[in-house]
Amino acid sequence: YGLNTAAKAAHKLYFGTATDNPELNDTAYVSILKQYKEFGQLTPANSMKWYATEPEPGVFTFEQGDQIADLAKDTGKLLRGHNCVWYSQLPDWINNGTFTAPELKFIVERHCYTLVNHYKSQVNCPISDSWDVINEPFNDNGTFRTDLWYDVLGTSYIPIALRAARAADPHAKLYINDYNIEGAGAKASALKDLVKSLKDQGVPIDGVGVESHLIVGEVPADMQQNLAEFTALGIEVAITELDIRFEALPPSVAGLEQQRSDYETVVAACNAVERCVGVTIWDFTDKYSWIPSAFPGEGDACPWDANLLKKPAYYGIISGF
Ligand code: XIL
Repeated sequence: YGLNTAAKAAHKLYFGTATDNPELNDTAYVSILKQYKEFGQLTPANSMKWYATEPEPGVFTFEQGDQIADLAKDTGKLLRGHNCVWYSQLPDWINNGTFTAPELKFIVERHCYTLVNHYKSQVNCPISDSWDVINEPFNDNGTFRTDLWYDVLGTSYIPIALRAARAADPHAKLYINDYNIEGAGAKASALKDLVKSLKDQGVPIDGVGVESHLIVGEVPADMQQNLAEFTALGIEVAITELDIRFEALPPSVAGLEQQRSDYETVVAACNAVERCVGVTIWDFTDKYSWIPSAFPGEGDACPWDANLLKKPAYYGIISGF
């Protein structure tokens, strides 16, 4: 019995984790990662991003992404493609380039089509079951992020990318993924409005990814209600990048108990919403969590500690399903 077993017993599609190529040399780590009872789904934390997959214009490199896709395939796990269009981790040729709108439209279409096509599902053998086609398009106040896509193409880059992904793989579930949309607020409302308008225009959109990079003691009380509001728009949702960090280290025993309860609350929120299809944690161990590098001084956000031992949070996930 494990986390994925618990998810499936609750009629969810999977419980999964992000992973990254350098960690795949750690045999103790990999022996847990491979266990289907714990993880029925993988997301590459970095190796399908633009800088990794199209380092030069029109030149595609899939070796690192393939390593994770092959691991998923060999262990019977679903794969989440992450991601097609984002403002961050772009190659220099994009960051330093200047493009007209028609040029950038072509660049977005070529990238999304080629990437999604490479990992496309096959009948009876879903390789990449879902894609974060658009990653983090909003500011926290609900306005669109004025990144290079928006600056040149306005909001049109969103349907351009979604249509290219759909053309490449009609079976993949196409998502918009963002953070700070776990509870209701300006950003969640803006995303709901975007989904509505895309659906009204016949643009393919299948789901919203709710990242869920949360802080211990601060899980929004209305998370379940908010997830239900997303699904009421006629789409699915997934918890795509869950981790729950301590702002001060080391945590106390009571802190670890609170973290257990917070993991349980998030999982239970997904569990209670029929079209919340699964939960993915943003790596499973504090040994490889991205938190200390992104939020200096913070951490211990994962259900396994840095010695690969299960924390109370692990059992919170089990009880949430
Ligand atoms: C993070 C990775 O985990 C890090 O290794 C990398 O240095 C930066 O990106 N939201 C996302 C993910 O959608 O792609 C980010 O992943 C975490 C925040």
